[in-house]
Amino acid sequence: MKTRRHSLHRLAGAALAGLALLGAAAARADGGTVKIGVILPMTGQQASTGREVEAGIKLWMAQHGNKAGGKTVEIVLRDDATVPDTTRRLAQELVVNDKVAVLAGFGITPAAMATAPIATKSQTPMVVMAAATSSITEASPFIVRTSFTLPQVSVSIADWAAKNKIRKVVSLVSDYGPGNDAEKYFADRFTLDGGTVVEKLRTPLRSPDFAPVLQKVRDDAPDALFVFLPSGQGAQFMKQFAERGLDKAGIRLIATGDVTDDDQLDQMGDVALGVVTAHHYSAAHPSAMNQKFVAAFEAANKFRPNFMAVGGYDGMHLIYDALNATHGAGGQKLLDAMKGQVFESPRGPILIDAQTRDIVQDVYIRRVERVKGQLYNVEFETIASVKDPGKSK
Ligand code: PHB
Repeated sequence: MKTRRHSLHRLAGAALAGLALLGAAAARADGGTVKIGVILPMTGQQASTGREVEAGIKLWMAQHGNKAGGKTVEIVLRDDATVPDTTRRLAQELVVNDKVAVLAGFGITPAAMATAPIATKSQTPMVVMAAATSSITEASPFIVRTSFTLPQVSVSIADWAAKNKIRKVVSLVSDYGPGNDAEKYFADRFTLDGGTVVEKLRTPLRSPDFAPVLQKVRDDAPDALFVFLPSGQGAQFMKQFAERGLDKAGIRLIATGDVTDDDQLDQMGDVALGVVTAHHYSAAHPSAMNQKFVAAFEAANKFRPNFMAVGGYDGMHLIYDALNATHGAGGQKLLDAMKGQVFESPRGPILIDAQTRDIVQDVYIRRVERVKGQLYNVEFETIASVKDPGKSK
């Protein structure tokens, strides 16, 4: 009896495998390619973001092949040169001419915002792998995010500061969407925790000069300076921070992890040592999965993965799982298969909240330390399963 049941199982298994093969063949026969239109800043001010996200996408495909949902996955990469009007035009072309099933990438908030109406109108799932202003996911019901939100990390560092004898803070943010979020969510939480933000400073997104604002910080003499700057600006900021002698003036530096970005951290030198930040990813995250991820990434690229690379890698994971679940269907079905996904990322466990389509993830408090001769963000506290505080209003 036992043997017979086993052989029935084997037969059923073989039949199913046969059907699956037939299905795959049918998909191939009827033009079995699924295109993913990736728009990134490969040139211009945020080019390091494009380089990191693209490397994350490529590593996913090198490790998992180019087949998902029975179709051949093809990446169509376009460079928006960090210009949102270009992002919108490229998205339109990718949807209309290339017939992409998914739009993905988006290095800065204005690029994601410019594309949102196209995702809605064409019912194309849009996976935001980099941009991080809270409201992006509300700009279209077709947007899903695998990066992070500034409120997630800003409230986390505010709580840490208040618990660590920091009472008086000056904030400095980049003057656009994610900077607005960082400034507001840091100040609201820090004030609730009993602290005071004595001055709120801003620098422009394009070609910022930090000298004048750093002079103000010196004059204000706070316990700490809280900073958000987009990935790519951290090294220049740290250089000016040291040149103005702020590191020696007893003003602590606290920030979102964008400032001590793994892409640039090791070039920052000793001025970065001891800087405490909150973020969702560090190349030094001690999980087995991350150690493998970093080793494979560095072997393929000769540079360190940062949080942007992980946003690209996880974005591909999300798209592959959704394609597999829907056997390559597009539109609303593909979007629905992205909602509620849970998996382990190199950053730790993540969930795509089915209601908000935003990411729920652990946020870590980290300190810059020298590890085996190189600077890393070493995690020392975990705030588990942080939902975007911008959504719970
Ligand atoms: C954004 O424009 O949304 C953005 C860019 C870089 C970051 C964070 C947010 O590091």
